[in-house]
Amino acid sequence: MAFRNIKRSVQNTQRKTDDQNKLEPLRNKGHKMNTNSEIKNQYLLNWVKEIAALTKPVKIHFCDGSESENQMLIDQMVASGTLKKLNETLRPNSYLALSSPSDVARVEDRTFICSEKKSDAGPTNNWMEPSEMRTTLGKLFDGCMQGRTMYVIPFCMGPLGSPISKIGIEITDSPYVVVNMKIMTRMGSKTLDLLGDSENFVKCVHSVGMPLSAGQADVTWPCNSENKYIVHYPEEKSIWSFGSGYGGNALLGKKCFALRIASTLGRDEAWLAEHMLILGVESPNKEKKYVAAAFPSACGKTNFAMLIPPAGLENWKITTVGDDIAWIKPDLNGQLRAINPEAGYFGVAPGTSFKTNPNAMKTIATNTLFTNVALTPEGDVWWEGMTDVPPQNLTDWQGKSWTPDCGRTAAHPNARFTVAASQCPSADIDMENPAGVPISAFIFGGRRADTIPLVFQPKDWNTGVYFAATVGSETTAAATGAVGVVRRDPMAMLPFCGYNIGDYFKHWLKMPNRTAKNPDIFIVNWFRKNEAGKFMWPGYGENMRVLKWMFERMENKTAGIETPLGQMPQYKDIDWKGLDFTNEQFNAVMNINTEQWTKEIISHKTFFQTLDQSLPIEFMNIQEKNQVAFAQLN
Ligand code: OXD
Ligand code: MN
Repeated sequence: MAFRNIKRSVQNTQRKTDDQNKLEPLRNKGHKMNTNSEIKNQYLLNWVKEIAALTKPVKIHFCDGSESENQMLIDQMVASGTLKKLNETLRPNSYLALSSPSDVARVEDRTFICSEKKSDAGPTNNWMEPSEMRTTLGKLFDGCMQGRTMYVIPFCMGPLGSPISKIGIEITDSPYVVVNMKIMTRMGSKTLDLLGDSENFVKCVHSVGMPLSAGQADVTWPCNSENKYIVHYPEEKSIWSFGSGYGGNALLGKKCFALRIASTLGRDEAWLAEHMLILGVESPNKEKKYVAAAFPSACGKTNFAMLIPPAGLENWKITTVGDDIAWIKPDLNGQLRAINPEAGYFGVAPGTSFKTNPNAMKTIATNTLFTNVALTPEGDVWWEGMTDVPPQNLTDWQGKSWTPDCGRTAAHPNARFTVAASQCPSADIDMENPAGVPISAFIFGGRRADTIPLVFQPKDWNTGVYFAATVGSETTAAATGAVGVVRRDPMAMLPFCGYNIGDYFKHWLKMPNRTAKNPDIFIVNWFRKNEAGKFMWPGYGENMRVLKWMFERMENKTAGIETPLGQMPQYKDIDWKGLDFTNEQFNAVMNINTEQWTKEIISHKTFFQTLDQSLPIEFMNIQEKNQVAFAQLN
């Protein structure tokens, strides 16, 4: 029977478009193999067979995750022009990919949660009736891998063997996706061994959506500029992605699985899948606490996760568990413990420098895959913000010659690096601990020019969850055309919550029933500006001063002052050693402007009204109480 004895194939994956006549033998008689380990999981094999019959690839390659396999794919992509090898002395074992200009970012308007009931997707997700979507996708996927190799990638989100980890299998026709998944997840034979003959894996199907007819030459970045679909079926635990080869659209372990599908698993199994970094804070006397922090995209999450304490606080230490996603579960004692489901960083390159994030710069010194950054004449990479003075000549992210005065950016603003987390100098010792790390606090922040102070600690869990749910960032012209409008991004999960946001809020409100002690909640804003439009808080490493105050609050070692927002530090409560920051400057980043807050609280109500009836009643009560409190202060 076809596929019954399929073994992991390490075939020559060189693309041969006239190879389609090999499809029949492949479907009907099984595969010619050259490894001796058998894949016995019949359920997996049947599924692979089903997808191959639909997508009609030339070949099927079961990824074993080995170095030799990785090198083979890299060599193949260098030969086809998809990757360029960087200067071996300046950037050892590193490569550059340039995407199609139409395929540079996540596509939120093409992202769907196809739950059976529309109300389960809720007011913040695109929804289509699942059978209608299946019909649409069925047509698009029919024959979509013609002329291409289909790769089967077994991957584990989280350390192998962790009770919090979960397995997925991604089928893709993109070798770029395979080499990225090798960095971003625990990928290959070990995961397959762990899966055994279980049916318990998230099915992820991805195609760049550009079949090749016989003799048709390929392009360096295949994608489909007309049709893009990023589709999640939460009940079936499957993901179908069509038309994009880029990042969060194509590396399905990341936003699609680890956030959208995992958030629904968290709802059903009483845990949390969050868009959060995880870091360890170690005090001079070696006490250590872990915090998880949620910020919308473009708020410096990677910088915060890899923070280096500033002069004056150098005897404190920050260690990194993760920079983007946290899976958080109560252990048997009711302690919330977190793992980073990812094994690598898919970080935004522009703005990353030895000034803003030395740890990231060291992490990406070798063995890194860059996408859409600029190329120097010496064969190294460059992006805006990497150095104060730009190089005189570059090849930009579209492969065009670039000079500083040409009026274009050299790197795409969403240019990325993909690199193993283990290369990070601040990697936490327990980063791979299957038990996860204990979480003592949650931090939520957005990018706000006014209103929100540098830091406050809401007075209780429910109020903390309320403020986390109303966090927002001012929009930039690039995103919406409107500047300075606050886009609410609850828990930084707006594009990533795989179910009804109101139910998600209720899930958060229920956490106290499941834990022995709740982590503290803090709200921060690193981005307040003065009237001249300049940032008033120095940010980056100086954020350590705020973390230190939080650390002491968690230990009940310091007081704050009671304010209408909850506890806040006074000037004297923050350690200013090594920084010249006056009481007046501090007041400017901390003050509660009652007029702005009155508007803010009213706009929370407007935001809640855009959500449906599933909103928790607790939020309306808190909103009303706050509205009254601020009205009295005015
Ligand atoms: C990301 C994002 O890519 O949040 O991490 O957009
Ligand atoms: Mn993110």
